[in-house]
Amino acid sequence: MEFDPQMDPRERAKWAAAQGALDFVADGMRIGLGTGSTAAKFVELLGRKAQAEKWQVVCVPTSEATARQARSLGLVLDSAYPDFGPLDVVVDGADEIDPHGNLTKGGGGALLREKYVALASRKMVVIADEGKHVARLGETFRLPVEIVAFAWSQTIERLRPWMEEIELRRTPTGEIFVTDQGNYIVDCRLAPISDPALLQRELKGVTGVVETGIFPAIASLVVTGRPDGSWQIKNFTSPA
Ligand code: A5P
Repeated sequence: MEFDPQMDPRERAKWAAAQGALDFVADGMRIGLGTGSTAAKFVELLGRKAQAEKWQVVCVPTSEATARQARSLGLVLDSAYPDFGPLDVVVDGADEIDPHGNLTKGGGGALLREKYVALASRKMVVIADEGKHVARLGETFRLPVEIVAFAWSQTIERLRPWMEEIELRRTPTGEIFVTDQGNYIVDCRLAPISDPALLQRELKGVTGVVETGIFPAIASLVVTGRPDGSWQIKNFTSPA
């Protein structure tokens, strides 16, 4: 059903990427579950596979939305959740992917938990359609930065030297968007990022910044889905 020919080609590509990521999970694994429309497709496929093959997997979701989806599919969460130990793999989406495997994430507002889960995982499998690939991060997408709600406007002022434009994220009804951690997010337009690791370090030094959507050299591999149902894998852990 996911490869319905009537379906939007980008949706078909997302399903293909999610399907490709199933090759990186197995019975008995501890698996991080990403957030967003692509990750949700993987969670659905994993739920079906785990049920059909009676897999015993333990999952750690990167958002409350993903936690709800995982539970509804019968996937078992780590008994310590929201605490958790090391994971075998996390499968997650991305907003942008550069040729070196650096990412921006956080379009769905889950960047902080996504980073915790990615850093706790032996392998990070990124799933995406071709539209997510860019020459340099920041080209197509505003960089999300999670900030403390307290004195949020002061944090915005401190971020200005790096940014061309900063916008506090709001919900479709105009309320301030609040993350699962009770923080706010600012979406920042900036010149394309030449050194993601350096910018990440600099922004983390700003008082009020909790985390940024830059994931420098964290991804192990990227599975890029195509509308015809095929996918391509690029590995970032071994020399090209
Ligand atoms: C969630 O906070 C994000 O990091 C998502 O992983 C990212 O925005 C990709 O989402 P889509 O798969 O919906 O494009």
